[in-house]
Formats: sequence, C-alpha cells, structure tokens
Amino acid sequence: MDRESIIARAKEHFSKLIEEQFERIEMMKKQENFIDYDKLDTLVIGIVGGDGIGPYITAQAQRILEFLLQDKAKQKNIEFKIIDGLTIENRVKHNKAIPDDVLEQLKQCHVILKGPTTTPRAGDPWPNIESANVAMRKELDLFANVRPVKIPQEGINWTFFRENTEGAYALGSKGIHVNEDLAIDFTVTTYEGSYRIIKAAFDYARKTGVNKVTVVTKANVVKTTDGKFLDIAREVAMEYPEVEWDDWYIDIMTAKLLDPKRRNQFKVVVLPNLYGDILTDEAAELQGGVGTAGSANIGKRYAMFEAIHGSAPRMVEEGRAQYADPSSIIRAAGMLLEHVGYTVEAKKLDMALDICGTYEKKLIITGRDTGATSAQFADYIMETLTDGNLEKRWLSYTNSQTGN
Ligand code: IPM
Ligand code: MG
Repeated sequence: MDRESIIARAKEHFSKLIEEQFERIEMMKKQENFIDYDKLDTLVIGIVGGDGIGPYITAQAQRILEFLLQDKAKQKNIEFKIIDGLTIENRVKHNKAIPDDVLEQLKQCHVILKGPTTTPRAGDPWPNIESANVAMRKELDLFANVRPVKIPQEGINWTFFRENTEGAYALGSKGIHVNEDLAIDFTVTTYEGSYRIIKAAFDYARKTGVNKVTVVTKANVVKTTDGKFLDIAREVAMEYPEVEWDDWYIDIMTAKLLDPKRRNQFKVVVLPNLYGDILTDEAAELQGGVGTAGSANIGKRYAMFEAIHGSAPRMVEEGRAQYADPSSIIRAAGMLLEHVGYTVEAKKLDMALDICGTYEKKLIITGRDTGATSAQFADYIMETLTDGNLEKRWLSYTNSQTGN
C-alpha cells in the first residue's frame, strides 16, 4: 500500500474512534442519579464464576452471601442469578470479550459478584480478545473502581478511586497498526468521565469525614489528557471547600507509597485508569498481597465486585482448585453488601475475614492439600460470623495491630 493510502486508512480508523467517544459522551450526559437499592422490590445479585479457580472461590462467596442475607430475604426478594458463560472457552467460541447472551443476563442484575477471568495476550493459545473485565466495565459503564487498602499497624487507610472506563484502557484494543513499523494506541480523557470519578472521590472524602483527596497524574509530561484530568480536579475541588486536596505525579507517588514516614498521610486517591491499575497493585501488595484486596466497580445503574487476582489456571490443571484462597472474592462480597446498604452485615463479614484470615488463622490456606480448602475456610468464616464474641475477637485483633 502506498503511504497516502496508509495514512487515509489510519485517519478513517481515528475518526471512527472519535465518533464512538462522542456517543459515549452523549450517553454520560444523559445519565441520571445512582440507583436506589432501597426502592427495589427484588434485588438481583449476579454470580459469575469466570475462569480457572473463579467458579470454586465464587461459589464459597455465594454461600456466605446467602448465609448473611437469610433474614433480609424475608423483607425483600433477593434473587441470585448464576451466570455461567463468561469462560474463556465460550468467549473464544463467540470471539467476543462478553458473548451477547451473557451480557443480556448481566444486564438483568443489579449487582454482580465476579470471579477472575482469563485475559488473553498475544502469543497465548487464545485469540487476542479484549479482557472480559475491561469490557464489562465499559459495557455496564462501571466508571469508579474503588479499592480500599488498610494497614492498621501503620494507621494506613487508603481508598483508591481509579477511573475505570477511559484513559489508556478506553481504546486499548482499538489502536492502529499503521504499518509494520508503526503502532499507535490512544488514551482518552473526557470532561464527563473525569468529572464523575473525581466527584465520586470528593463525595466519599466528605461523606466519611476524611476530607482529604490526592489527585495523581503525569500532567507535566502527558499534558493534554492528564492535564485535562488535573484541571477538572481543580474545578471539582472548588465545590468542596472543606476537603483538602493535593496533586502528585505518578512516579513520585509510587515511590512515596514505600515511604513509611509519609504514606499514612494519603487517604482518598483519585487517578486515571492505568496509573490506578498499577498503584493499586502496589498498595495491595503492601497490605499483604494482591490476593487480599477486593475491588468494587461502580456505575450509576450497575455495580460489579471482584477479586483482584488472576484465574490461576495452573491450580486447576494440577487438581488443586479446591484449595484456592477465597479471601479476595469474599472481601468483594462484603463490598457488595456495603454498596447495596447492608452495612451491618458488611462490617461483620469484614471483621470475620480479619479474624480468620490475618489474626487467629485457625485454618491456613496454602493453595494445596497441606492447607484448608476454600469450602472449609468459608465454613470457618460462617462459624465466626455466628459467634456472639465476634466483635470482641475483632477488637483484640485491632489492638494487637496497633499495639494497645
Ligand atoms: C485489574 C486487572 C485488570 C486491569 C486486567 C485483568 C485487565 O489488572 O483489575 O486491575 O488491568 O484492569
Ligand atoms: Mg490490575
């Protein structure tokens, strides 16, 4: 192909992307308020097993949810909807990140608990389809990826608000292979998309009384898109005079999370998609490993809660899936409860997880038959939940952490 035709083809591709983003912006402009779960007659909770160890650990989280919601189910219809088709095999068969019928079923839910899904990359035996996670965030417009990280002994209580539908991810699978020598990807910052995530972070800082927000970008270098994100942060901050805020560049922020003198000063952190992806892994690792964190993907109509680790196909191949650690997906189930307004149950579950997973540790998960199974761990959690001394046990855990 001659140079002119190559450029013409790339331009056409680029103009389609702009059209798509304009449509997205129109959709965002039309969006109403957040759904009110109290007003629903029936709450539909989708359970999506995903790949690898996903179905094993998700089933345990579902047992715990059913257990905790027994009484609630007397006041409101709570329907669990098992959605099976979000497996790599089925996605490959339909050559889609989320097959149409699966998406249809997801849309019948209000909230979704999702196990890990395999993300193919070039060189894998699968076609290089888009990540199911990323697709779901976009399809259901789950724009706020909320990831809490706590290190009580250091007084660390971080809540990350990672933008979840744009940035380097928005068009991550739609870059242009201009020719053999040149590949171009895009990063997208929209006014509407940035405004709503930054506002969510400031609202949270206000609601929780933390009143401190840190905005992270690389606006000194990525001037157009990150520059816009930071400008919008300045604008939003004006609406919250009582919330103190500062801005950091991602490189030094990554370093400062490792600085014990500094890091507990960060509270609520809001940042574009890719920086949020990276920084939240670092933060979770500091808490005790990526497997210990849960992740909420929140939009105005739908919300999805997931474990932040991978699908560990090797554990399944080696026949060890039943020994997988369900802590992260159970944490995510707790975030789901909190999100729909069952805050007492959510708090109890969090306490039970702290007690069973990090404090008393009467059962240890090793990932193989030297340790407990996921089901045994879930039983241990449920026993702990029914114990009248739950709170006492948890207080002795927190005291042990803070040295009181
Ligand atoms: C995460 C994961 C995903 C992401 C992957 C699985 C696509 O790393 O949830 O942080 O990059 O967002
Ligand atoms: Mg990640």
